[in-house]
Amino acid sequence: MGFPETFLWGGAIAANQAEGGAFEGGRGLANVDLMPMGKDRYAVGTGEMRLETFDKDHIYPALEAVDLYHHYKEDIALFHEMGMKVFRFSIAWTRIFPNGDEEKPNEEGLAFYDDMISLCNAYGIEPLITINHFDCPMHLIKSFGGWRSRKMIDAYMHLVETLFQRYKNKVKYWLTFNEINMILHFPFVAAGLWFEEGENHFQAMITCVHHQLVASALTKKLAREINPDFMIGCMLAAGSYYPMTCSPEDYWQAISDNREVYMFTDVQAWGYYPPYALKWCERHDAVIPFVQGDKEILRENPVDFISFSYYSSRVSTSDRKLATQSESNIFASAENPYLKKSEWGWQIDPLGFRSTINELYDRYRKPLFVVENGLGAKDVLEEDGSVHDPYRIEYLKEHIHAMKQAVEEDGADMIGYTTWGCIDLVSNGTGEVEKRYGFIYVDKDNQGNGTLKRYKKDSFYWYAQVIRSNGEML
Ligand code: BG6
Repeated sequence: MGFPETFLWGGAIAANQAEGGAFEGGRGLANVDLMPMGKDRYAVGTGEMRLETFDKDHIYPALEAVDLYHHYKEDIALFHEMGMKVFRFSIAWTRIFPNGDEEKPNEEGLAFYDDMISLCNAYGIEPLITINHFDCPMHLIKSFGGWRSRKMIDAYMHLVETLFQRYKNKVKYWLTFNEINMILHFPFVAAGLWFEEGENHFQAMITCVHHQLVASALTKKLAREINPDFMIGCMLAAGSYYPMTCSPEDYWQAISDNREVYMFTDVQAWGYYPPYALKWCERHDAVIPFVQGDKEILRENPVDFISFSYYSSRVSTSDRKLATQSESNIFASAENPYLKKSEWGWQIDPLGFRSTINELYDRYRKPLFVVENGLGAKDVLEEDGSVHDPYRIEYLKEHIHAMKQAVEEDGADMIGYTTWGCIDLVSNGTGEVEKRYGFIYVDKDNQGNGTLKRYKKDSFYWYAQVIRSNGEML
């Protein structure tokens, strides 16, 4: 028993949080470049505050990030040394189409990914590509408001076709959009959405996400034409909501909160908006902008597998005052007195991971791929270059054990597991580099100082052993 022999162990990153090289190789400007570190990040991410150009008052961590752009050879060699079988990364849209609407792709940008993918292939590492991980060309945001415009579907599909043609024999696993439900929490990041004064935010968000859902289904359609062996997945920010108490009101609130998590994945997996989602729109005075043919496109092109991130469970309460949301906790949740928390206040719940896997498998009956899980923590680089991170090992050990139970004892069908930030990178929520997830330490601090040198943490050796033993030695 245990994990299947084919189980893909690995790690994950996103372009805007790792690559840097923002002004190199002909790359254009994207929304994520303008996300500052520190106190204004949350307001910019939610679309409440507009930063259209760089200023001197902020640090913009995506511009250099951890400079994977210049270190990818060394980094992928380290992933190989750990024995990683899969590497999840995203494509920076503006490396390929700097403005987003060019006819011809930028060859220099493609060459960068050609090389990364060839390296993975040479090492026997399966590339898992997120086509869109929170980035949107600024030009498209300024010209037609990002994903609120249907024109985004064409621009996105042009990118998809370029990638599919180029990598049709080199890449098998693709994710259409990172965390499709993030639009309800971080809309500028998830969809390049700035709100107009006085507009119905729900209408704007449902418009954007409908366009993304159609684009996601069209991606599956195109995959079938270009290479029927492609595996196309959706991706959601998962983590079950528990009712705070056994009061029927709290339980009902948990059902409603969970539905907001699943609402768009239901469309990607089932091919239609479930009745509760239509009612959700009605309640918020929002209309789904269907045009002729959309329903068929959605219905005929469900995804092949479900991928998701899991960091924590959440708690629902009918007393909304207790459900707090903050820059480091984008999803509103009440405190769970039964759980320990990370330094950033994220509740640590391995059994919740098993519950979430089961909920997803019960709901969708499609193969599952965990594409993000991990602990953001402060690490100390010792003088001898070592980094002792027993807390990270403990977190991952407990979560992998819970995932193993979901496979062995509950029968969940799982393709693989990639930890988040297999190398330290910029936090999406706070913009800090010092919120570290990696097995590999990068010498850089929140202010941008450091040599960018890489160091192996204790967890590096531990994860290598987990992979070698196919999850038996934790
Ligand atoms: C997910 C995102 O929401 O969580 C990642 O897909 C992100 O981009 C990760 O980095 C962890 O969150 P944070 O805020 O700690 O970076």
